[in-house]
Amino acid sequence: MITPKIQSYTDHHKLGLKLMPILVGELYLARKLKFAAYIYRDSHFCEVLAAGSTPNKDLINLLIRNSHKEVYVSVDDIQEIRKNLENALIKVTRSLSVGDPLENGQKDIKLLSLNLGGLYNNPHDDELLMLQFQSTQNLGKFLLENKKLHSSYFHNLTKESFHFTLSQPMLSSLMLLSFLQSIRLFHDKEIENLFLASYLKDIGFSIIPEEKYDESNLDDADKKLFADHAEFSFDILEGRVPLSKNYLTIIRNHHFLNARLLEMINKTTRANNQTNMLLGIESVMIGVFDMIVAMTSDRPYRKGMTLFQSLELIKKLMADEYPQEFKALVVFIKQFYKN
Ligand SMILES: [Fe+2]
Repeated sequence: MITPKIQSYTDHHKLGLKLMPILVGELYLARKLKFAAYIYRDSHFCEVLAAGSTPNKDLINLLIRNSHKEVYVSVDDIQEIRKNLENALIKVTRSLSVGDPLENGQKDIKLLSLNLGGLYNNPHDDELLMLQFQSTQNLGKFLLENKKLHSSYFHNLTKESFHFTLSQPMLSSLMLLSFLQSIRLFHDKEIENLFLASYLKDIGFSIIPEEKYDESNLDDADKKLFADHAEFSFDILEGRVPLSKNYLTIIRNHHFLNARLLEMINKTTRANNQTNMLLGIESVMIGVFDMIVAMTSDRPYRKGMTLFQSLELIKKLMADEYPQEFKALVVFIKQFYKN
């Protein structure tokens, strides 16, 4: 059990001004902390690591076991941790094919997902965006060469206690790549680009304040903000990454299936052009895997549905237009989750 030191009211107020949250898992990238680290409990910052200490594995595991997903550290320490994270990602990306592919792939996927958090905070940082882009491109090539490991990578990432904004892009893109490779309709280069488009499609999450993600009752302005994230992803990426217009358009429209789902639930007809648009199977599959991962995972305000329930909904959304692909999807999913 952790017995943290509780701060006085004045100390607490001062702390709030200089601390920022990071994921507990990011502590692995910290060396010596310049300042103390805290958890937030019962409206107080409670010190769990003293200034000058180095987080060790036992403490990190203890925090995770006690359901602490975030730790509050000073802005100085965050910068240092994020720099270490970038360096670790560069190192593992460069040596992906050297050594054990299972271990390398798992490490790369974890670091890449953690690093995505930095990009949400600084979407206009060119260096960070290119690091994400090149690492994802490299990972895509590596995944195509290691198709038997896709399912293991996926299940390994689901075990991390990452916020869904960090894990969902990678989980849905891993399944997408694996599915596209299995149906043999696309060249490797196309799969690689679709993997990139799928992974980067939610960069626009950066316009949404963090606390909104875990709220169930959003007002109309918040709903609009969520609806606009695809457009914002397009704005962030256009002209800054080497993805062709076709893939950027897919990113811009990646929520068209969600709009169809809402129409279905509300029993309304397709009123606008956006949901009537004709899109290729690749756009449909990017949306489908995004929805499967979202629907089957828990949120603070709802439980995730079963895989079977999510497939029932997906069937209603795509089976009329793409009956063969839906059959292939069901066969694929059974195999993917069995491994
Ligand atoms: Fe999205």
